[in-house]
Formats: sequence, C-alpha cells, structure tokens
Amino acid sequence: MHYNMMLAPMEGVTHPAFREIAVSMGGLDVVCTEFVRVSRAPLNESLLRRAVVRLPDTPLSVQVMGNDADKMAEAARHVSKAGADIVDINLGCPMPRVVRKGVGAAMLKDRALLFRVLRAMRANTSTTLSAKIRAGYDTADDALKIAQTVQDAGVDFITVHPRRRCDLYQGVADWRIIRAIKQHVRIPVVGNGDVWYAKDALRMVEETGCDAVMIGRPAMRNPWIFRQAAELKAGRRPFRPSAEDLLAHLDRVRTRYEHLFASRKHGATGPFKELVRWIARATPPRLEFASHALRARTTRDMMNVAQRCLRPLGPEELDLDAYGTLALERSGQVANSPPPAVSVS
Ligand SMILES: Cc1cc2nc3c(=O)[nH]c(=O)nc-3n(C[C@H](O)[C@H](O)[C@H](O)COP(=O)(O)O)c2cc1C
Repeated sequence: MHYNMMLAPMEGVTHPAFREIAVSMGGLDVVCTEFVRVSRAPLNESLLRRAVVRLPDTPLSVQVMGNDADKMAEAARHVSKAGADIVDINLGCPMPRVVRKGVGAAMLKDRALLFRVLRAMRANTSTTLSAKIRAGYDTADDALKIAQTVQDAGVDFITVHPRRRCDLYQGVADWRIIRAIKQHVRIPVVGNGDVWYAKDALRMVEETGCDAVMIGRPAMRNPWIFRQAAELKAGRRPFRPSAEDLLAHLDRVRTRYEHLFASRKHGATGPFKELVRWIARATPPRLEFASHALRARTTRDMMNVAQRCLRPLGPEELDLDAYGTLALERSGQVANSPPPAVSVS
C-alpha cells in the first residue's frame, strides 16, 4: 500500500470538479468517486463516462454498490476497463433508501452473501479491489468477522469507518475499532472518520496503526487538510490559510460549479450551499455566517455575504490551522465511553 491520504467517496459531493480542486490543494494520493449503483440493468456507457473521470497524476477509486454477485462482478470488470485504478465496494451507506434494498451497510448483516459478492468481483478483475465498511449494522460485535470475510474473499485493502449503521453520523467515530481490525487482518487498513484536523491524521496512524487515512467531510470544511497533513508528516510548518485564501477558494469553487451545474434547473446554488455550510463550521460562531449565507438566493449573493463576513477575520479566528487550536470539532475522542464490543488490546 503506497497511499497515505485519500479523499472519501461522498455522494453529491465528490464529482470530478470537487476532486480536481481537492487534488490541486496538494497532499492527496487517491480520490474516490461517489457510489455507482449496480442494479439489474448493466452499467451503461454514459454512466461510466460520468463516473470514471481520471486526473492525470492521481489514482482514481471508483465505488460500486450492489448485492447481486454476477452484476457486481460484471461492474468490477467494466469499471476497471474504463480506467479505474481501484474498484471499491460500498458496505457502509446507512441511508434508509439504500439499506431497504439490501445494499450498502445492509451487506454487513449477511457475511455469506458478502463473501459471494466480493469473491465474484475478485474473480473478474485484477485491478486493486477495496471494500469500505462500517463497524457493523446494529452492533460492532462482528466488526472483526466482517473484516476477516473481506480479507478471505481476496480484497486488497479495507477502509474502516468505525460507526455502526444505526449511528448514521452521530457521536464520534471510535478509532479503537480501526486498531482492533488492523491487529486482526493482514491486508492494509485505511482509517476513516472524524479526522477534522491535519494533526489528527497523524494521530490516527499513531493510535490505530492504520496504513492510510481517508478524509471526507473535513475536506469540505478545510480543503487544505491533506496538504497540512503532508507538511506535518514531512516536519515542515503547515500552511495556515487566511481569510483571503478562503475567499479565493470559495470563488474558485463557485466558478467551477457554475460551469459543471449549468444545465441543472437551480444551477450551482444547491451544491455550492452544501460546501458553504461546511466551510461555515470553521468560522467564528458569533458571526452566524452559515445562517446569513444560506439565506442568499444565488451563488453570487453567497459570495457577497462571505466577503462581508469573512474578509475582516485574521487567520487565528479561522478554525483551519493544522492543530485544531480553536477545536470547534472533535476527533477520535470517545470521552468516558466503555471499550467497544470488539476486543481491543
Ligand atoms: C454527503 C456525504 C455523502 C457520502 N457518500 C458516500 C458514498 O457515496 N460512499 C461511501 O462509501 N461513503 C459515503 N459517505 C461517507 C464518507 O465516505 C465517510 O465514510 C464519512 O463521512 C466519515 O468520514 P469523515 O468523518 O471523514 O467525513 C458520505 C458522507 C457524506 C457526508
């Protein structure tokens, strides 16, 4: 495993424009697509063309989701042929519309089915195959067995988001489960969940022994997090963004999104709002930047609000430094909680 930092797959977020901007900020080794749903119908060309958009120098992981072994095997082959560097299977999506269909996190409940699907995919592609799991469905009791099943099926590496399906995004990801899985399997383990600050990426490696770190929501909130983690790892002083840097980033995203979503009824407003909502979490709560910005009707109005609210701020007022000095978010600290159900040494 020669990757260190990975951008997590996020539906509606990690489209090609987001991936391109994320990579341009530095420090990122792999990007992931949003999941591609594999149902009865074969994957069609136009879907594949939209999903498998590679950047010149950054490996692309394409995530598929489904529970039909034959269709998933076929999908693994198609996606590999279309240029994916990694084929990833979604075993963690907790959304009711997904688990109702028996896919995503629902696959964690049936290890025999899981094994069959993964085995069929393995037999049909020599491209690197990975699986992204949660700690379990209703309990984390079987986390090690699930990881073992993934390994036994011949998957090359496993990504662990240590929340159960029933947690959705509540509480704090329990990194002790990543450590327990790392100690249990031979394949590389990628840790994921609540790495809000660059220093926490290094801490996750230290505390869990994981081979790489995957970051999702925190990369929407702080697009420099990968760069900062790489700088910390190299012993260099990490970049500390100013309000000007943040505004320039927002404006760049706005321009790219306007282009990408030009044909949508409401254009780029929705996707841009989603990003602004995350970035607002790094700004002083007293400003109520989110509530002001999210009331705006157009991306241009949102930018005007951002200019007004954020321009006067000094870097020390933004929760975007590598160390989390302002600590508006919480990483990997499951305060006063009992040990997880899986054995942790
Ligand atoms: C908006 C959104 C969409 C997501 N879509 C996917 C997805 O398509 N596939 C997947 O495996 N996980 C998906 N996730 C989960 C993330 O990949 C990640 O596991 C989770 O957010 C925890 O990591 P984080 O704390 O770094 O965000 C999504 C998360 C969010 C917030």
